[in-house]
Amino acid sequence: MRSLDLSILLASVVAASVAAQSPQPKMGAPVNGLTVQQRQRFDAGRIDFTHTFQVNEGLGPIFNQASCASCHNNPVGGPGGQLVTRFGFTDGQGAFDPLAALGGSLLQAQAINIACQEVIPPIANTTSMRVTTSSLGLGLLEAIPDAAIVAHETTPPSPNVSGRVHWVQPLESPAGPLRAGRFGWKAQVATVLTFSGDAAQNELGFSNRLVPVDNAPNGNTVLLQQWDTVADPEDGPDGQGLHFIDRITHFQRYLAAPPQTPRSGMTGEALFNAVGCADCHTASYTTSNDPALELSLRNKAIRPYSDFLLHDMGIAADFIEQGPATGQELRTPPLWGVRNRDPLWHDGRVVAGTLQTRILGPAGVIFQHGVFGSEAAPSAVAFNALPAADQLKVVAFLDSLGRAEFDSNGDNALDQIDLAAFRVARAGAGGPYTADSPQAVFDFNQDGFVNATDLTAFAQVYEVDCNNNTVNDLQDVLAATSADANENLIPDECEFCQTNLGYAGAGTLTLSMCGDALTTAGSRGTFQLTGGPANGPLLIAIGVAQNPYLITPTEYLVPLEPLAGLVDFFVLDNNGKLRVTIYGGGNLPISNWVFQAATFNGVAFDLSNALSASVGAF
Ligand code: HEC
Ligand code: HEC
Repeated sequence: MRSLDLSILLASVVAASVAAQSPQPKMGAPVNGLTVQQRQRFDAGRIDFTHTFQVNEGLGPIFNQASCASCHNNPVGGPGGQLVTRFGFTDGQGAFDPLAALGGSLLQAQAINIACQEVIPPIANTTSMRVTTSSLGLGLLEAIPDAAIVAHETTPPSPNVSGRVHWVQPLESPAGPLRAGRFGWKAQVATVLTFSGDAAQNELGFSNRLVPVDNAPNGNTVLLQQWDTVADPEDGPDGQGLHFIDRITHFQRYLAAPPQTPRSGMTGEALFNAVGCADCHTASYTTSNDPALELSLRNKAIRPYSDFLLHDMGIAADFIEQGPATGQELRTPPLWGVRNRDPLWHDGRVVAGTLQTRILGPAGVIFQHGVFGSEAAPSAVAFNALPAADQLKVVAFLDSLGRAEFDSNGDNALDQIDLAAFRVARAGAGGPYTADSPQAVFDFNQDGFVNATDLTAFAQVYEVDCNNNTVNDLQDVLAATSADANENLIPDECEFCQTNLGYAGAGTLTLSMCGDALTTAGSRGTFQLTGGPANGPLLIAIGVAQNPYLITPTEYLVPLEPLAGLVDFFVLDNNGKLRVTIYGGGNLPISNWVFQAATFNGVAFDLSNALSASVGAF
């Protein structure tokens, strides 16, 4: 009989080097560093944000959708493809009337009963769609000091642009100072709470302490009285004294900013700056250091890529006036997260295809910036003068906005596909890479190489837990909780396992042989025993039987006699475990053999389950 060539794998705990920075939260996750109470508020608010309202809870009578998340769905709290309709009347002199007395300018497209359904009034001659913007990072945007927004109005970064602040009154402080608006396509709102109160009533028909009366269908108060059966305001305090609009405000304020990977250094960003995109899409701010703000939101460097000012977009605008915002003015939308947004533009006119076609295509974003009368036309002209390869670098930069570290395929999930690509990037020297290399998504500390430091960071955010032990698989492998004989960073127990035949003894000794199938040269697997007596040393026998001999149909497969025929000595560790690497490729030519192990306590044997191992001849 040939001898087994089993070598003991020394379980080496990889020292976890503490990364200086934490990986950025992915789209839809909360900001880092929330307190327990803040995290609970985020979670509770998220539930309310996804709550589907019923008529008896106050939905309608006219509304657009029954939950916030039915529009803000990519991910929950993010942007979405849903459109709402604005209408109004523009007279011969170009003056705009929002037709407020007829239910304008926002149409509620649904009703709890057809009898009170709103329609676009026949007199309306101006309509525009508006696509759902995003609530990601809103607490951080809310914390941008007004002065930082005003600065770009007073001192424009270039003579080409002349943005205007949209001054607004927050609903929660009707007597307070005007604030620099920043939310919505017209920068028509300055605070998250105001938008929440406004959206609850206007999108869901859920009246609340800030917007206390439901909308009358096309202004018809008789219809409103007839169909509004829940007393206004419909929102009110819960057991903790918090209203629905407070809860959804918590959630949105604590939503993290969309990630950006690589964080800096892309050639495309330098080109973006050079052609004047950054004249309106201002990269960075520092949030207010107001001690009243949560630590996670206070004094933070953020990169939203917007000046939050109104700009004249010429004939690509919406021609809906809103407060002091004219029909041709729109807010510069923050570009953070833009890689995940489809459709683009206020009315969603730039839709489908790849990000590249949405930006560069014939009616894409660059074209829209360059239309007649647009303040952004000089930057579109400069962009179009760039060589094609440079234009693609700008697109590559935009594609970094909303990408989490390690998310190589950009699907907002950190899974085995990303892990496989990580291994390829790390192979050999693992670099050098630049911020423009596709591999830069793995170079967490941006030192030009994909190496063990980056792996440690990856392990903080990896999402696959194939063995369901509530710890992600990379952490399992790095801490050697799981064996990884073939060094593919996937726990061996989740890969190919030799067939378990059962037939264990009375104890808890369990044998497994997982990893590669051991059918090719260089393949590796782990021969592992768990559940044995702790604090060895103890005698372990490993038996191999070519013609398994069943003592009884339910009892031991390999009788003790042949076991004794091939005995080897091992020591279980103080967790009662043994791990041995098995090499395929000639060292272990097994075909239809049976493995079983036993411990012996000086009095009796305890047998593990039996495995049949068949690795073919080679
Ligand atoms: C029918 C779809 C729809 C529903 C339902 C909806 N929204 Fe929106 N949301 C939009 C659209 C469209 C915009 C852009 C509106 C605009 O600028 O006029 C928007 C914008 C926002 C913004 C501004 C983000 C920014 O910076 O531009 C916030 C905040 C917001 N919604 C919160 C909510 C909340 C909270 C709810 C639930 C109470 C809600 N929305 C329900 C479609 C919807
Ligand atoms: C004069 C200010 C200004 C300049 C300069 C400018 N933009 Fe914009 N950008 C805007 C405004 C305003 C919008 C929204 C227009 C609309 O939706 O009607 C916008 C929209 C966008 C969008 C779509 C965002 C979305 O959510 O729909 C992208 C992408 C974009 N800009 C990229 C660029 C790039 C690239 C450049 C440089 C070539 C650039 N912008 C230059 C003001 C500007």
